[in-house]
Amino acid sequence: MVTLRYHGHSCWEVEGEGKRALIDPFLTGNDLADVGPDAFTNLDAVILTHGHGDHIGDTVQIAKKTGALVVSNFEISNYLAAQGLTTHPLHLGGGREFPFGHVKLTIAHHGSSGPDGEYLGNPAGVVLTMDGKKIYHAGDTALFLDMKLIGEMYGPIDVALLPIGDNFTMDVKDAAKAAEFINAGMNIPMHYNTFPPIKADPALFVAAVEGQGGKAMVVEPGQTYEI
Ligand code: NI
Ligand code: MN
Repeated sequence: MVTLRYHGHSCWEVEGEGKRALIDPFLTGNDLADVGPDAFTNLDAVILTHGHGDHIGDTVQIAKKTGALVVSNFEISNYLAAQGLTTHPLHLGGGREFPFGHVKLTIAHHGSSGPDGEYLGNPAGVVLTMDGKKIYHAGDTALFLDMKLIGEMYGPIDVALLPIGDNFTMDVKDAAKAAEFINAGMNIPMHYNTFPPIKADPALFVAAVEGQGGKAMVVEPGQTYEI
């Protein structure tokens, strides 16, 4: 069994096989986050989709305290290794089996500059396999047709985590089309309502996905979803 715990924005804690990974831990500065960076003591990995501050977030503090391995693209990996973290570089299309699970980086259409404008490579999505379950975290991205390929080649995907907030990423309509392309067993919205420009109604996403015969649900910060 795998448990997904939502901490707001794009931050998901994934637990399975006694291992724990955290994706995009943006907690400090996120009024909707249910926990702060001190909440984590037992953590195997931090996985990052791209370099933007609302995704790298509290990675340095959390990884230093827990000793978690940071898995990201090559450029972010170098950037964080220079700050004293233990990192493993991957890049788009590449995957690797880690003690906590398998991580594959997929394409995403977005940017990836660092918190101070550093060049931090290309943005990614993540297919994380833990305990036999497959989770696709789309990162920040526009809609793209190759999501079909992600669903077909790396699936079946058990849960797709999709940004719906518009402005910087897909909106509700695009994300519902993404859900159709990926064909995951469950679709959960993220990256909305954190800031005024990404205000969105997740119920509209659920209705749109269900209207096309798929499954979707809203998971609030602090809530979990078990696969
Ligand atoms: Ni971003
Ligand atoms: Mn973002």
